[in-house]
Amino acid sequence: MLERSPLFMNRLSLLVDLASMLAREVDLDAMLEMSCERVARALGAERATVWLIDAERGDLVARVALLPELPSLRQPVERGISGWVARTGQVVRVDDAASDERFDPSADRATGYTTRSQLVAPIREDGKAPVRGVLQLLNKLDGTFDEEDERYVVALAIQLGRALELTTLRASDPSGPGLVMRGPFNHIIGRSPAMETVFRRIALAADTDATVLLRGETGTGKGLLARAIHVNSPRQAGPFVTVDCTTLPAQLVESELFGHERGAFTGADRRVRGKVELAQGGTLLLDEIGDLPLEMQGKLLRFVQDRCFERVGGRETLRADVRIVCATHRDLEAAIATGKLREDLYYRLRVVEIDVPPLRERGPDEIATLAKHFADMYARRYRRPEPRFQPGAIDALIAHCWPGNVRELEHWVESAIVLAPDGRVEAQMWPRTRERKGTAGGEANGGKSVPVGLTLEEATRRYVAATVADCAGNRTAAARKLGVGRNTVARALRKVSRRDTND
Ligand SMILES: Nc1ncnc2c1ncn2[C@@H]1O[C@H](COP(=O)(O)OP(=O)(O)OP(=O)(O)O)[C@@H](O)[C@H]1O
Ligand SMILES: [Mg+2]
Repeated sequence: MLERSPLFMNRLSLLVDLASMLAREVDLDAMLEMSCERVARALGAERATVWLIDAERGDLVARVALLPELPSLRQPVERGISGWVARTGQVVRVDDAASDERFDPSADRATGYTTRSQLVAPIREDGKAPVRGVLQLLNKLDGTFDEEDERYVVALAIQLGRALELTTLRASDPSGPGLVMRGPFNHIIGRSPAMETVFRRIALAADTDATVLLRGETGTGKGLLARAIHVNSPRQAGPFVTVDCTTLPAQLVESELFGHERGAFTGADRRVRGKVELAQGGTLLLDEIGDLPLEMQGKLLRFVQDRCFERVGGRETLRADVRIVCATHRDLEAAIATGKLREDLYYRLRVVEIDVPPLRERGPDEIATLAKHFADMYARRYRRPEPRFQPGAIDALIAHCWPGNVRELEHWVESAIVLAPDGRVEAQMWPRTRERKGTAGGEANGGKSVPVGLTLEEATRRYVAATVADCAGNRTAAARKLGVGRNTVARALRKVSRRDTND
């Protein structure tokens, strides 16, 4: 009796899946695209598009359009029915778009597409929350959208609003409309020129099967970027398998990588497949490749060259179709010089090299954005109120030199969120600032954390930021200590952080 139509089940399961789907993956566009495809199918529409309001530029961006001819669209919020929905937050259902005065025919003219019926709902967490975007459906395949379609799309758009909360798209002002795009990949923050180069390379490399070597100091995000390569590659539906070369004793590495046959050694009571086999059809991350024991390097070289291997104790030669990504924080050239790394392996692995810059080279804006991202993330996790950085708190972060990079920053922020049950994050909560114990202006930051090797501009900026932090965020007091005007302080802090966003 309770048998439901396939359409109903299809709609229901989409509602249920959406939040977890969006929260999980780094490839936000791909996830939104998949939801659009399924929404279009569930509603019997020709097209579905998610438009997000870009809070910085104040226009609508089609993050996802099932429009092969236009992969990315922007339009002012003043324009069209979707703009009207974004502004008013009201749902619109029209049977004949051309006769609706809010309809803007210029998009159709540009694409050669003919819009007949439309159903457009605001994307937001609930009926009262600020609008983050709109979900737009075009052309019901048979007939026009009805009231039930409308109710469903409204419910779905609320789910989308909640799901977006779990991504790294953020509202710059939580009570205002729109979102800020903090980076090209979900869960990966970064818009500094240094990181844009990395992202461009990641996107280009992801399209291919080329071996990638990620290099960078500890905690710079190599593991995260390796995952981004995988989920943005044609192998995204396949497995992503990591081998940590540091934790493996030499005798176990071979079996870990290539597996073993039953009876291969004492205790091998059954056949075990290695990581290489488990990664079949997907991506294998060889993490900390610089730590791979020398004895294993020959066997790995053979695998890297022709993807062939044998299980330990096995005679059969097997092949695995895997894409290889490696990561290391070590100086591989020095490892070759000291005989710890085979040169032939090194050349095989460094096909596409991507240098991940240390946090201190990404500029103050990036430090602030990352801090806010982690604050939001941990406030949600620990059920703390909306975090508010108090004066001086961000300046103190900017002044630090971050030997542990993003991981260190993440831990600082996590601890501050734990220590701030009211959401007020103060400079004194940072571990380093507390250790420092009120140093005098000239000795701000203990003089310890400004390393040599910086440009004069960067050293100046850091020194100024440290002084401001030491004055509890009071720039006027800092300017007095430094013997300069307040504007000079502001300018020093702003330099290197500004960038032209006209791309
Ligand atoms: N750009 C970023 N945006 C958001 N989170 C980041 C970013 N970079 C790094 N992280 C976070 O920082 C932490 C450290 O990153 P990850 O483990 O990828 O670094 P790593 O370079 O692999 O470090 P190691 O060399 O020590 O293995 C992780 O929790 C990761 O999610
Ligand atoms: Mg790592």
